[in-house]
Amino acid sequence: MAIRKIREMGDPVLGKVCKEVTEVTPRIQELIDDMFDTLYEANGVGLAAPQVGILKRIVVIDTTGEDPILMINPKIIEKSGEQTGYEGCLSVPGKTGNVTRANYVKAIAYDENMEPFEIEGTELMARAIQHELDHLDGHLYVEKVDGPLQDVEDLEED
Ligand code: NI
Repeated sequence: MAIRKIREMGDPVLGKVCKEVTEVTPRIQELIDDMFDTLYEANGVGLAAPQVGILKRIVVIDTTGEDPILMINPKIIEKSGEQTGYEGCLSVPGKTGNVTRANYVKAIAYDENMEPFEIEGTELMARAIQHELDHLDGHLYVEKVDGPLQDVEDLEED
């Protein structure tokens, strides 16, 4: 259990396509545990492995702080609707921007026993799944922002 350093925009590792996980080795399990520690320490909603410098298709999400979800080799299999809202990323500290995404997604992924499961969500959960899965293909939300990136501080003053 350890906090890992979160890579920030400009780090080339964030632009790479991640590899599928074939087996949850002790080393991968340690990575997963550290990703949750790092997510909670940073008060984030989601974290993808490349954000801690590891090019593997692993994502952790917790939209409430009490509902940890691990997704290994996740794929979105269904999406619908539309939502537009402010989004942020632990790799782009202090910034936010307006992003339009599907309002509903259904995904398949593998758990830590490499058992497949389905997960679906709307609103924040759907946004988190889409955002984190983009990281696995080397994409940041800033590519999808409508209008300029804003400072979180400026927004809070409004
Ligand atoms: Ni992010």
